[in-house]
Amino acid sequence: MTHAQLAIKGGSKAVTELPARFHFGKEEKEAIDALFDECIRTGNASGYNGPEEEAFGKEFAEYMGGGFADGVNSGTNTVYVSLKALELPPFSEVVVGCVTDPGGMMPIAELNCIPVPADTAPGSFNTGPEQIEARITERTSAIVVAHIGGEPADMPGIMAVAKKHNLPVVEDCAQTHMAFIHGQKAGSFGAMGAFSMMFGKHMCAGGQGGAIFTKSEELYWKVRRAADRGKPFNLPGHSNVRYAINCNMDEFHAAIGRVQLKKLPSIISRRKAFVEKMLERGLDKLPGIYVPQKDLAPDFEPCYWWWRLRFDASAMTCTRDEFCAALAAEGALVTPNYYAALPAKMEWFANRAHCHPWNNPLCRSDVHAEYATPNCDKCMATDFLFSIYESYGDREADQLMEAFAKVSSHYAK
Ligand SMILES: Cc1ncc(COP(=O)(O)O)c(C=O)c1O
Repeated sequence: MTHAQLAIKGGSKAVTELPARFHFGKEEKEAIDALFDECIRTGNASGYNGPEEEAFGKEFAEYMGGGFADGVNSGTNTVYVSLKALELPPFSEVVVGCVTDPGGMMPIAELNCIPVPADTAPGSFNTGPEQIEARITERTSAIVVAHIGGEPADMPGIMAVAKKHNLPVVEDCAQTHMAFIHGQKAGSFGAMGAFSMMFGKHMCAGGQGGAIFTKSEELYWKVRRAADRGKPFNLPGHSNVRYAINCNMDEFHAAIGRVQLKKLPSIISRRKAFVEKMLERGLDKLPGIYVPQKDLAPDFEPCYWWWRLRFDASAMTCTRDEFCAALAAEGALVTPNYYAALPAKMEWFANRAHCHPWNNPLCRSDVHAEYATPNCDKCMATDFLFSIYESYGDREADQLMEAFAKVSSHYAK
């Protein structure tokens, strides 16, 4: 173990340079070039609901193990469209895990329903069956479960609760594109899996994008209608059958998404390999570091959007935030506070009583309810996010391990 001077105290950095992700290569460029060539040849811009999106939907559904998929223009809109397709009664309550992006919760209110945040399972950023069940009332109409940071939520347990209460589940897979639970992909347990494909996710469809997966053909057509102004897809006639906005993915994004989908298994396996490299180098043996994925049930396989690590204050002379600041100074990409993923602690939620749908006379929910989330608070106080990219290899593992070892040994009791 090294005792070199910390970078935060004027020593040299352990990490000289970290590579970018290098999401795109010649394959994405060729796919887009081909579309442009076609546009130039025909004189027509490419649109949406075309052959690229059709192929993207088929390929994504196949990747999910069979079923149906629709390309959508953002992850937020995948949650929105999934819930819209469920035709939830206005002012009904939708239970949603409290750790999520605002885009995983706000669509509920946008659909005139009441989001009800559920605590996380102990030691996890993901909500769990007990925490969801504690929030179910006679007004609950659906459940949204986000798999946070690449870690799969307890879908067998959650589906059992959902079945008991006869509630549909939307799995928000924005941060989790290839996690497995007993060999089955996260996103294929609930009624629908909603996948963000913006540029920061495991795979992307360009700057923004997303896809909704379902095993139900009936739901698939409802999704298509909900994503495109209620057009009568798979119905007779030409009349739009319900009101809805336009959340379509276009051909260019679908073309990028198709290429990225082919790269996804390699992206995930390189991320997992990097985690293994860090464990081989003894990251989990360092004072102050605990690897909470050890506590995942057997056969729950994360896919590491980032790597959640836990700071063990009992072994250290510094705080979690000081530890992370020292790691950051060494050149590691770490985020100590994941408050960006606590939408129920944000202003819009604190002030909700004054806004629609909460201030509507038809709202029967307690608009001042305090949704205590003790498990989440505990986890948020100890855990931090370690950003890892599929482009990291042995060199990065050596340097990042050096950074962790330096900081850990400096602050160890
Ligand atoms: C859990 C979760 N849900 C929804 C979203 C929204 O996705 P998008 O940014 O593609 O709209 C995100 C984005 O980070 C997310 O992490």
